[in-house]
Amino acid sequence: MQGDFVPIHGNYKGYYLKRPFTQDPRLGLLPSDILKGARVLDVGCNEGFVTCEIGQIWGAEKAIGVDIDGSLIQAAWKRRRTLWCQQGPASEDVLEEPTSKERKPSETTGKERACVPHHFPASCEHMFGAIPIPTCSDTSNLFPHNVVFQTADWVRTEITEDKVGYDVVIAFSLSKWIHLNDGDEGLMKFFQRVHSVLKPGGVFILEPQEWDTYSKAKRMSAKLRENAKSLKIKPQDFPAILKEVGFGPVRHLGTTGEGGFHRSVDLYES
Ligand SMILES: C[S@@+](CC[C@H](N)C(=O)[O-])C[C@H]1O[C@@H](n2cnc3c(N)ncnc32)[C@H](O)[C@@H]1O
Repeated sequence: MQGDFVPIHGNYKGYYLKRPFTQDPRLGLLPSDILKGARVLDVGCNEGFVTCEIGQIWGAEKAIGVDIDGSLIQAAWKRRRTLWCQQGPASEDVLEEPTSKERKPSETTGKERACVPHHFPASCEHMFGAIPIPTCSDTSNLFPHNVVFQTADWVRTEITEDKVGYDVVIAFSLSKWIHLNDGDEGLMKFFQRVHSVLKPGGVFILEPQEWDTYSKAKRMSAKLRENAKSLKIKPQDFPAILKEVGFGPVRHLGTTGEGGFHRSVDLYES
């Protein structure tokens, strides 16, 4: 815990110090090209590491990160700027088709601007200051212009981007926090909201936390403890619940993560 601050929404500061990665292994489980050219909403984006990766490395047309905690959204904008400062100059070279069957996220085909992440060391920004982000012209679908953040309790609040809809909505390590704060009703509302903002054929990527992890979380506050008593839905019921909401059958994409972060990543088609 950080001083008196209790992260009852899972709004941990420094989350990615506990869960470090260069490329998030959860994104590596997704079907290839699902993010390429897609409009992606990352609900509960925390400090924006995953959202930035989706926009910078996986070729999303737009990646929108939303989080209930404004201080995390500030940190997410900072993360975007830092990654921009480390990014190498774009090239317009025609890249060769990769030989292996499995393409890595940064590999592209055809004549595209190749993004070179992590080209400059972090020390450059510290020594020389941040490189200004040029005004967006024809690069609105390129990093960093294609990554934006907004503070909102997304269960209760619509954001402007929702109106256009999304090809992919991601909820990594989020459902437990919505469930404990807003009960079964809030969780159902969340699932319904996800379904309503997805374009036809869009997909929901969910990394649910197991029921046994709820007990530690509910000890954080009297409100969570009280709410937990009335929960009838369990994470193992999510496939059936999501079917009721209108999604197709669950597709387990795999399991990844170390220790307490060892969780399954699931896909639901709308
Ligand atoms: C445990 S973190 C997971 C961060 C990130 N999704 C990941 O897995 O790398 C959960 C995040 O969800 C956010 N969150 C919780 N309830 C939310 C809500 N109703 N609307 C938006 N964000 C929420 C928290 O602030 C926190 O940053």
